[in-house]
Amino acid sequence: MDYASYLKLDRLLSAQEPESAKQGREAHDELLFIIIHQAYELWFKQILHELERVARAFGGRVVDDAELSGAVHAAERVVRITQLVVSQIDVLETMTPMDFLEFRDLLVPASGFQSEQFRLIETRLGLSRDARLKFDGADFDARLPDDAKAHIAAAEARPSIRDEVDAWLARTPFVEMGGFDFRAVYDAAIDKMLRADIETIRNHPQLIDSEKAVQIASLEKSTAAYDALLDDARYEALRAEGVWTMSRRALQAALFIFLYRDEPALHLPHRLLRALMDIDEQMALWRLRHALMVSRMIGRKVGTGGSSGYDYLRGSAEKHRAYNDLFAIATFLIPRSDLPPLPAAVRAQMRYRYET
Ligand code: HEM
Repeated sequence: MDYASYLKLDRLLSAQEPESAKQGREAHDELLFIIIHQAYELWFKQILHELERVARAFGGRVVDDAELSGAVHAAERVVRITQLVVSQIDVLETMTPMDFLEFRDLLVPASGFQSEQFRLIETRLGLSRDARLKFDGADFDARLPDDAKAHIAAAEARPSIRDEVDAWLARTPFVEMGGFDFRAVYDAAIDKMLRADIETIRNHPQLIDSEKAVQIASLEKSTAAYDALLDDARYEALRAEGVWTMSRRALQAALFIFLYRDEPALHLPHRLLRALMDIDEQMALWRLRHALMVSRMIGRKVGTGGSSGYDYLRGSAEKHRAYNDLFAIATFLIPRSDLPPLPAAVRAQMRYRYET
């Protein structure tokens, strides 16, 4: 055993074969282009490995506390990796569009669009086929080789991490415990807050009537959206329209966790939800940075993979989100000072207590 043999450096470092050199017109920047993509694929492999750990923790009916801690740790590691890979774009942007033109034509029809591991990450996180933009009228995997298609189909056949977390959240015990019903208690508090917000706008001396009307309409929409959270049929109708993706029970539990996150039993669940939001945000940032990088590299040309290029990528940055619902929950948060206190019996179940 030595450094080079353990890391299989002979294979790793001989896996860069610039096409331009093969054609006898070596383009200096093609090595960077290859290494960047290879580094991405290595990090994608690590992300998938960590996501498996998250999935394993939630795969059973009961989530073990120690495994939950491992899952949070893995999800937080994924956050760090996604932050790192967003910043890798800075290195790629040291290549100028003209340097890229030296070898771009040699890449057609290859494209990052065909990255199987990227599609697996999206799928495992919970981005479903129906939620994706069509690519040239076809599904995202239409141009992938059969084995890659089969791997993606196998990932789609499993519950995604979002599905697993949803089922787990929906079972959160504290939301209804003993005689305590979180919905009933919280209902009055949120109602009070939204009505107070409407009154503030209505009486605001610096807003003109048309501005007030817009803001009040938006607040009334929030009130209606909150009311729907309390009603199965209305919620399911909104879910069918695509307004919400998570189940109603899971969404309520997530709201409960965000509100009462200071309670010890909710620390890890809160960290997990935060990590999932961070991953979603970093993925969105990556898509946006990649789209901007593409626009400076190729302008409005179509991509080597055949898409509209920048326009498609901007669209996917906006639309391809797996955890939008967790972000939308912020609509229903209230200040700590207005938070209804939890009954002592419920709090007692959520605290660490060591007594001799
Ligand atoms: C000069 C650098 C790059 C250019 C000009 C570029 C261009 C493009 C374009 C135009 C697309 C849309 C599909 C197509 O028509 O080909 C695309 C998609 C994609 N590229 Fe890149 N890319 C570059 C670097 C990278 C790098 C370093 C990665 C890292 C793996 C990457 C990963 C992807 C992925 C995952 C997609 C699919 C995105 C989605 O469907 O939302 N690209 N790229």
